[in-house]
Amino acid sequence: MMDVGRHPNIKLLTYSKVESIKGYVGNFDVKVLKKARYVDETQCTACGDCAKVCPVVVPDEYQQGLSSRKAIYIPFPQAVPSASLIDMNSCLGTNPIACGKCAEKCDKKCIDYDAKDETIEFRVGTVIVATGMDVFDPVILEEYGYTKYENVVTSMEFERLLSAGGPSDGHFIRPTDRKRPKTVGFVQCVGSRCERIGKPYCSNICCMNTIKDTLLLKDHYPDIQAKVFYIDIRAFGKGFEDLFARSKEAGVQYIRGIPGEIAEDPKSRNLKVLVEDTTSNKIEEHEFDMMVLSVGVTPRFDMPEVQQLLTLSKTPDGFFMEAHPKLKPVDAPSTGIYFAGCAEAPKDVKDSVTQASAAAARAETLLSAGKVKLEAITSTLNTDLCRYCATCSRVCPYGAFTVDPKKKTISYIEALCKGCGTCAAECRFGALTMKHFTDEQIITQIDAHLAKDPQEKVVVFACNWCSYAGADTCGGARLQYPPNQRLIRTMCSGRVDEKFVLHAFKKGAPMVVVSGCHYVDCHYIDANRWTQKRVEKLWDKLERWGIRPERLLLEWISAAEGQRFQKTMQDIEELRKKVTQEEIEHTIKVLTEEEEKTKAKAKQTGGKAQKKS
Ligand code: FES
Repeated sequence: MMDVGRHPNIKLLTYSKVESIKGYVGNFDVKVLKKARYVDETQCTACGDCAKVCPVVVPDEYQQGLSSRKAIYIPFPQAVPSASLIDMNSCLGTNPIACGKCAEKCDKKCIDYDAKDETIEFRVGTVIVATGMDVFDPVILEEYGYTKYENVVTSMEFERLLSAGGPSDGHFIRPTDRKRPKTVGFVQCVGSRCERIGKPYCSNICCMNTIKDTLLLKDHYPDIQAKVFYIDIRAFGKGFEDLFARSKEAGVQYIRGIPGEIAEDPKSRNLKVLVEDTTSNKIEEHEFDMMVLSVGVTPRFDMPEVQQLLTLSKTPDGFFMEAHPKLKPVDAPSTGIYFAGCAEAPKDVKDSVTQASAAAARAETLLSAGKVKLEAITSTLNTDLCRYCATCSRVCPYGAFTVDPKKKTISYIEALCKGCGTCAAECRFGALTMKHFTDEQIITQIDAHLAKDPQEKVVVFACNWCSYAGADTCGGARLQYPPNQRLIRTMCSGRVDEKFVLHAFKKGAPMVVVSGCHYVDCHYIDANRWTQKRVEKLWDKLERWGIRPERLLLEWISAAEGQRFQKTMQDIEELRKKVTQEEIEHTIKVLTEEEEKTKAKAKQTGGKAQKKS
């Protein structure tokens, strides 16, 4: 951090908040609120005299609330810049000045109670999101008695208690009697791998963190007894297994089982746990002076704000989703935005540094090229046909459109378009055309597939990234599926226009399938949300027209699900066999009538408009 602070090409804005980011790759306009520190950071020498005279005492966040700080303070020992700031929520007041002791004491006259927040605006070419993570708050797991029993602490608190710069100056003490504990128990996976509390994922770092903690503990106090309760130990990194072995050699006992409850003996304040050791299948009782809850990683509290700023998408776990897990692991779906660290997923320091280096390199590659290659498959806008209904701006996952229906203006930034085609599928006025996946091209494919014996065919719209790739996996594994199914590839299921489906039915298709990525896996953030809505509307329409909605299927199939693709296609073939010729003929008749009605209506409105003009 100090290197970053000193680097001539890096401008570090600490104690600041990004208020808005507008624009696109190469042209991001950023607005940052630099909060007032009330201390001139260029003059402050961090002597700490001001803090000594400050009468306000509040819990120290850095020390996990285990000790206190003053209203004027340095957030943590290695803070950059190494300068104090005033926490105005705790300060006794500056207007009128009710205390002013720090200003009196400061020889350098660094304190300025009238300092104001500052808004800074600048333009950048790329953005790296490295917003970090929070840790799970175990208060909701009442069975562990966190905050009810003082001697139950989290792994974060434990680290502070063991640290030389911690609240007890490196003397490991238990909170209730401030004596050194003789027995310490660690509970793993607190807030991880637990469906019940909505945290089904592994937090990645906790096993190794506990192993490191036990080694530190044994190093400082070899006579301390330490036991770790775990589901399984995930020591998969370089040298990690060695560390695990060292911890066991040092005498740390590992018990495979998670305690159901922690109870306190009110007299001794010792903690008792009952646990089923799943290696011996025995219920055991253990007693400890202190328990450490190894808390998991959670997405940062302000992730929704960051998500909105940059139009990012999230995984079901709540972390940011990369453009592609294997091929673009540090890229956000929007060009010019990259991820580093736990904002993307829980990871340790080494992986965070690796990802940060990769993100910096990706950003540098783009910036040094000086120009950006756009996707070949993007939408084009015909402003003559646009009626400024703003549907495109509502459905575009990348915010490429800005429409003002009142002023009748539309702006479209093609550099933001990634080519999902949702806008073209939703635009009712034909103002948007998707290059290489135009209406005409898709309709021609439907016509070609259904030119002969349409009653025997099934039209399957498959998105490029998941279901089409799923069909490939199926084929690659030599899995057989009925040969009468005709796949039409679109980049995203969001491109499948209602008129494609109706056209296929009108051409005599007994079944039509719209398939795409699983709900959260869409490669265009959440474009398949619109697919679902569109298909649901179509089901209603078909029902109204007396056409069985079951003949239109919506399937989510991933690239890895070759077997699922095969099974789905086989099931669909069974459904196809049940569609009668009368049904198909009735459908063609109804849809032809509906088409004629629509044409007549359009003619009428066109005529009226002409008369008006
Ligand atoms: Fe597959 Fe959007 S990319 S559904």
